[in-house]
Amino acid sequence: MGATLRAGIMGTGFMGQSHGKRLGQIEGVTVAAICSRAIETGNALRDKIAATDAVVYTDFDRMLAEANLDMVYVCLPPNAHRGEVERAAERGIHLFLEKPIAYDVATAESMVRAIEKAGVVSQVGYHMRFRKGVERLKELMDSGEAGRPTLFQGRYWCNMLGKEWWRDQSQSHGQLFEQVIHIYDMALYFLGKPSGACGLVENLCHRDVPGYSIEDTSAGLVRFYNGAMASIVGSNCALPDHFIGDYRVVCERATLDFHSTGDWRVKDGSTVFRYGAGKIEKEEFVEDRDLYLAESLDFINAIRGGTPPRAPVRVGLETIRVVSAILDSSSQAGAAPVSKPLD
Ligand SMILES: NC(=O)c1ccc[n+]([C@@H]2O[C@H](COP(=O)([O-])OP(=O)(O)OC[C@H]3O[C@@H](n4cnc5c(N)ncnc54)[C@H](O)[C@@H]3O)[C@@H](O)[C@H]2O)c1
Repeated sequence: MGATLRAGIMGTGFMGQSHGKRLGQIEGVTVAAICSRAIETGNALRDKIAATDAVVYTDFDRMLAEANLDMVYVCLPPNAHRGEVERAAERGIHLFLEKPIAYDVATAESMVRAIEKAGVVSQVGYHMRFRKGVERLKELMDSGEAGRPTLFQGRYWCNMLGKEWWRDQSQSHGQLFEQVIHIYDMALYFLGKPSGACGLVENLCHRDVPGYSIEDTSAGLVRFYNGAMASIVGSNCALPDHFIGDYRVVCERATLDFHSTGDWRVKDGSTVFRYGAGKIEKEEFVEDRDLYLAESLDFINAIRGGTPPRAPVRVGLETIRVVSAILDSSSQAGAAPVSKPLD
């Protein structure tokens, strides 16, 4: 193990706290700085995650100049980016970016340019890539055993109001960008480069809720250059207190079924089937990994010169292109969506 890596956290809400807690569990890493809009919320995060040595800043650039950081965790709502990612990359600082990395393609492209030009390591918070069943199907795909990927079907269902920024279309761009995007990322992870996407979005059961201007129902279709296709639905009108993000993948000689009840008391699971040569083999996985810890360990391993990160910043851009195309294609009320090419 090399020298201790110094982490900074930008944004002191739910994800700042989630990542901060886990960084404290990783050997050879220290949370050296926290940046918040108010000193009080920065101090509160420092206490909650017991980062006793962390210096709290209210100015991001001052943190970059003074804290001698190796990496920054950017845990901001998607509308809040003001070039912080680009400025950190210019200084050679590695970046962990919560998804969606932005709410528009131009900002995401600017982040990709800066990070790739600087050659720093980046990881986007697409933690679902670290599930056991996902790793197993990827292994079968990489070895050629699974055969050609053909179809992805997924959903993200819940029922919540979220914070004020979350339910405001102008600030978050909706459930599609905030939640269902995780499922679109899984489709891209398995099926490859998307060539076009279209879909429908509607607010069906929150029209009378003050401040709720995002969609609560969506249905998207994605086409891939290799001919494969994905169908993904989102709902914020489903069962309260249940967060269901599940999916199925079909390859020529293998399938993955990730199943979730959305009830935190019941463990999620994955089933992988392999078939061919007259026999069927079944593997079951209990999905009990701490995925937020797994994605950070992968990021830090890459910083230390290990394998490349599983969800680099370019992945963040690709997913935004897809959900943006779905939102744009749905803008004609009452009409069927028109497919948007992605290049
Ligand atoms: N990967 C996951 O499972 C997961 C789960 C939840 C949220 N997220 C993502 O993480 C991001 C943050 O979500 P959250 O739940 O932590 O939100 P949050 O509201 O709990 O925290 C956001 C933080 O950003 C700060 N902030 C807001 N606007 C700002 C601005 N203009 N300038 C500087 N700071 C600002 C707030 O003060 C707060 O500290 C979102 O993009 C969300 O989609 C990811």
